[in-house]
Amino acid sequence: MDNKGHILTLGIESSCDETSVAIVAEGRIVLSNIISSQIEIHKAFGGVVPEIASRKHVEAIIGVIDAALKEANVSLSEIDQIGVTFGPGLIGALLVGLSAAKTIAFALNKPLIPVHHIEGHISANFIEYPELKPPFVCLVASGGHSHIVDCRSYGDFRIMGRTRDDAAGEAFDKISRALELGYPGGPVIDRMAKEGNPHAIQFPKVHFNDSLDFSFSGVKTSVLNYLNNTKARGEEIISADVCASFQRAVVDILVENLMKAADKTGYKKICLAGGVAANSALRKAAEEAALKAGIEFYRPSPILCTDNGAMIACAAHYASKERRAGSNLNAFANVSIENIDGLFNKSAN
Ligand code: KG4
Ligand code: ZN
Repeated sequence: MDNKGHILTLGIESSCDETSVAIVAEGRIVLSNIISSQIEIHKAFGGVVPEIASRKHVEAIIGVIDAALKEANVSLSEIDQIGVTFGPGLIGALLVGLSAAKTIAFALNKPLIPVHHIEGHISANFIEYPELKPPFVCLVASGGHSHIVDCRSYGDFRIMGRTRDDAAGEAFDKISRALELGYPGGPVIDRMAKEGNPHAIQFPKVHFNDSLDFSFSGVKTSVLNYLNNTKARGEEIISADVCASFQRAVVDILVENLMKAADKTGYKKICLAGGVAANSALRKAAEEAALKAGIEFYRPSPILCTDNGAMIACAAHYASKERRAGSNLNAFANVSIENIDGLFNKSAN
């Protein structure tokens, strides 16, 4: 493809267990999106081990950058700007991506754009749907976050609801571990649930009055109690039914709050984002709810739902008009998606 005249953004993501680098033209055309996953390494521990994640990012990052440039058929000197996840995430993991991004930006004397990880997830929708524009409401559900976000314009977000305890993906991972199905739990529960009865077991769905917040620790504890009690009675545990019933409880509440949020804003568009957005039951339920309400439904392909560099490059493209960072850019383990621009001085080099 001829990239002449196109703004080329190199995006780096390293907040958890994926080292990913992408080259994206004009914010939405993905020239490459290389994802090096550490999942196989962390599987042995049943979850991500932060120190191991940092070391593996260090080992992978240079090779992944080279592969992204090669696949895009672009040289480093042709890159116009560098986007990087600055938080939230694992500090040691984030710092690896930040160091690489700062080094490239400094060496090329090109702008360094800090990207919020959740903003990145939301932006995956812009890649999937070139015509999509804010405003819309987005449900961002991943291993670390469960947020309903009012996406007012590019880079301008308001949180309408969030989890008060576990993230949705975290609940999938914990139930999978209890059923000895391995890590990460989401994809395997998604698969198993297809063989099970979603109405076999009634797990609780937590609602808060006048709030779009979530709580997933109740459903998680209820599943764990069910497993312990069934075992103690010497009865057979039908894993497929447990997966289907648990998934139904989580999906119902996610979609219910998402639709309430859409109603509250009056927007006619809803989006999904984050690793849990790859869930087939969630995609189906949200699509059906949108159809019923007469509003538009958007969701990224599964590969763009989980962590990737393309979503970071896309977010950086739009953020570049408002946001810059210098070589003092730091990583943040916890940082709100509201007022990201306020954190950064637009005129930093
Ligand atoms: O967005 P992501 O790659 O990383 C974070 O930012 O956390 O999300 C990973 C999470 C894991 O908890 C994983 O179990 C979950 O997304 N996940 C899924 C599915 N695929 C991944 N959850 C439910 N169904 C899936 N198909
Ligand atoms: Zn993520």
